[in-house]
Amino acid sequence: MAELLIGQTLRFEGNPTTEGPGAARHSARGGVLIEGGRIAAVGEADDLRRAHPDARVTDHGDALISAGFIDAHVHYPQTAMIASWGKRLIDWLNSYTFPEEMRFADPAYAAAIAKTYFNLTLANGTTTVCSYCTIHPESVEAFFAEAERRGVRAYAGKTCMDRNAPEGLRDTPQSAYDDSRHLRDRWHGVGRLNYVVTPRFSPTSTEAQLEAMGALWSESPGCLMQTHLSEQTDEVAWVRSLFPDARDYLDTYERFGLVGPGALFGHAIYLEPREHARLKEADASLIHCPTSNTFIGSGLFDMDGMTRGGYRVGLATDTGGGSSFSMLRTMAAAYEVAQLRHRALHPAELWWLATQGSARALRADDRIGNLAPGMEADIVVIDLASTPAIAQRAARARDIWEAVFPTIMMGDDRAVKAVLVGGRPA
Ligand code: GUN
Ligand code: ZN
Repeated sequence: MAELLIGQTLRFEGNPTTEGPGAARHSARGGVLIEGGRIAAVGEADDLRRAHPDARVTDHGDALISAGFIDAHVHYPQTAMIASWGKRLIDWLNSYTFPEEMRFADPAYAAAIAKTYFNLTLANGTTTVCSYCTIHPESVEAFFAEAERRGVRAYAGKTCMDRNAPEGLRDTPQSAYDDSRHLRDRWHGVGRLNYVVTPRFSPTSTEAQLEAMGALWSESPGCLMQTHLSEQTDEVAWVRSLFPDARDYLDTYERFGLVGPGALFGHAIYLEPREHARLKEADASLIHCPTSNTFIGSGLFDMDGMTRGGYRVGLATDTGGGSSFSMLRTMAAAYEVAQLRHRALHPAELWWLATQGSARALRADDRIGNLAPGMEADIVVIDLASTPAIAQRAARARDIWEAVFPTIMMGDDRAVKAVLVGGRPA
């Protein structure tokens, strides 16, 4: 039976980062018709009611109906050590991250964290994530099994590392290739699940392992590849010392076939002109992780330059280098980081980045991240007056953007009134 959601609706007919806020479409009394897990129609509530008198109606009043949020770069195994104090990237990895990731050799522990992780992200209105796992195949099994159980569209891969990581957290070029290929064959394309080839970053992979990852990716049509790029200055210097022959950081991936359409590069803060040009030419995706970049003290991503340059940019929490599971909080941090670079991102741009922008970065914008006929019905319903502080500010709003912005800046999971995954309550 068809279901009709009624409320304020927000969708996109274009990209507001390049076309301006006019690319967004708001309806004060809109409707979204859902049939068979997909969006069948979007329009004015009264028109849809008349055209579909048999549909079951859920009226969300003044709440805002949007595509669910898409978090394009996370580490689900870092759920339990989020908000760990006082370190920068390399020390943070060694002190907090690697010891925690060691625990994922235990399938029961991996399953428990995967469950907690999806509880947290869905409570925050995030309906798709793209996650790193750990070196353990068990961690990938746990993630995909939980995602499958919940019916979410999800992306993940076995994190590969064969050097500069502790004993117990290293694989080899051959085992990384074999395990990743096996997991790809087991999970890619099962329901809404997608395998992602995942070398962690070039400091923790030998050239032989990067070569094996490049080979695997070339044999994996339709799979994305994810890694980290130029997050901190110390890291960039370390890469230079580990790869003295490379032209730059990106080249450590490029020479092994890891740069191309469908490659996702997390952070990408300190880029040389050649790297800029190559990323653009390759149409690779850059994933902005603003709460992580401030929390670990990495730096200020050049959102203005990237969007004006026409790069494919997604938005992400980078849990647990990032300090929040919330894409609302992440939009707020993106706003603040851009402000520090003298560019005020419009609420339409922020909302687009957290939905269509991330979907486009994952090359799934024809399926998720927007309210449009044919799209998968992954939907979030947002209360725009979820706390007294937000309510009093939103009460003065003169348009939809003034009503939405206080929730972007001050909202959290209390603003999430309902979440639908494939048309069903999450
Ligand atoms: N670079 C390599 N691994 C990681 C990680 O787990 N988190 C972040 N923020 N950066 C990384
Ligand atoms: Zn990361």
